[in-house]
Amino acid sequence: MKISILGTGYVGAVTGACFAELGNDVVFVDIYPAKLDMIRTGRSPIFEPGLDELLTKNLDRISATTDTDMAIRETSVTFICVGTPSNPDGSIDLRFIESASRDIGQVLKEKDGWHTVVVKSTVVSGTTLGSVRSALEAASGKVAFRDFGLASNPEFLKEGSALADVFSPDRIVIGAEDPRSQEVLESLYDSFDCPKLVVAIPVAEMIKYVSNAFLATKISFANEIGNLCKTMGLDTAEVFAGVGLDARINPAFFRSGIGFGGSCFPKDVRALIAQAEAAGVPPKILSSVVAVNEVQPLRLVALLKKHLPDLKGKRIGVLGLSFKPDTDDIRESRAIPITEELLKEGASVIAYDPLAIESFRRLYPDSTYAASAEDLIKTADAVLLTTEWKEFEALDYTGKIVIDGRRVPKAAVGSIYEGVCW
Ligand code: UDX
Repeated sequence: MKISILGTGYVGAVTGACFAELGNDVVFVDIYPAKLDMIRTGRSPIFEPGLDELLTKNLDRISATTDTDMAIRETSVTFICVGTPSNPDGSIDLRFIESASRDIGQVLKEKDGWHTVVVKSTVVSGTTLGSVRSALEAASGKVAFRDFGLASNPEFLKEGSALADVFSPDRIVIGAEDPRSQEVLESLYDSFDCPKLVVAIPVAEMIKYVSNAFLATKISFANEIGNLCKTMGLDTAEVFAGVGLDARINPAFFRSGIGFGGSCFPKDVRALIAQAEAAGVPPKILSSVVAVNEVQPLRLVALLKKHLPDLKGKRIGVLGLSFKPDTDDIRESRAIPITEELLKEGASVIAYDPLAIESFRRLYPDSTYAASAEDLIKTADAVLLTTEWKEFEALDYTGKIVIDGRRVPKAAVGSIYEGVCW
């Protein structure tokens, strides 16, 4: 199959490389030539383990261009993989989705033959048959489902394990309203041996949001219970190990700590809340999920203040800046509200991360950045563990004040050690 991918961010880069690996010809499109240059030489524009190797291996099936017109003309399926940021009120900002749809529509106006447009970006339910369809029809002068197809095919990738998530998915969700688009997606995923769900497009869009919202709910639930367990001297992890053994519940995403960050959970939960509010059914559970997640990182600083009541002038180490290990992504990282709180208390922050220092430095240019985790531990008055990088398990925390937000067992040797929920 000949596939064009609009947008070479996280979703586009991973999706395109994986489709090439499956034997398809893939054309990547982006407005940034630098990203395309990277792809052409087998380098991923985003950090994801294994992605450079996958691009390099499949270079003969990959091309990259800023020319949307050419990319769409030369392919029969287009995946929209552009970003869907948030508006200030938390609702989804569809500006990139709409402009991509208009661009595709312009080309479809002159193009002969069937073309399927698949929305892979995370969009609230109703977007594909609403804004995307209107923009495509207005720009092409053609009618959806008669002259071209529309589909939704949400992704369920986790940063750091995205390739494994694509090649061994729990399920594939295909939202299609016409047999031709359904057939295109079914044949693309033909070699996959997992449940494949074919549903209406708005249902596919909703499955994505509800999956993320439910996982985020599990985390906030574990944190709320974790806060109670802490006051009772109970180890939350032991409690949830027992709870998760119930097959109806499942043990995943019950790791309590300082909450969820990243490009998806915080944004998607807020967008679902905004959609529910606009529909006149303001959600109580989802609003609490966000509320718990906002307070949770601040508990780490509150625990620190139990041992160092006055943080003014104290050198506090923030160990881990990415929103989770194995990524350089700091979007909604819990290290951000923690750093804000420390600075408010007058502390001087010294930070370290194996991959994310440069992005964090752009937010906090005046903080100090340690050359290594060992240096941070040596020179800080107290250490806050904010991301569970593997290398942090091998450090020597002897004699330090350590407040642990992510459960790094080796850190328990500190002279004072407190876990946020244990
Ligand atoms: C998530 C979804 O898992 C994925 O299916 C979706 O496509 C995109 O959003 P991602 O954001 O890459 O993926 O990371 P994930 O591993 O889900 O972690 C998200 C956040 O939750 C991280 O900050 C992580 O530290 C936190 N988390 C995760 C917990 O605090 N406890 C847990 O038990 C699991």
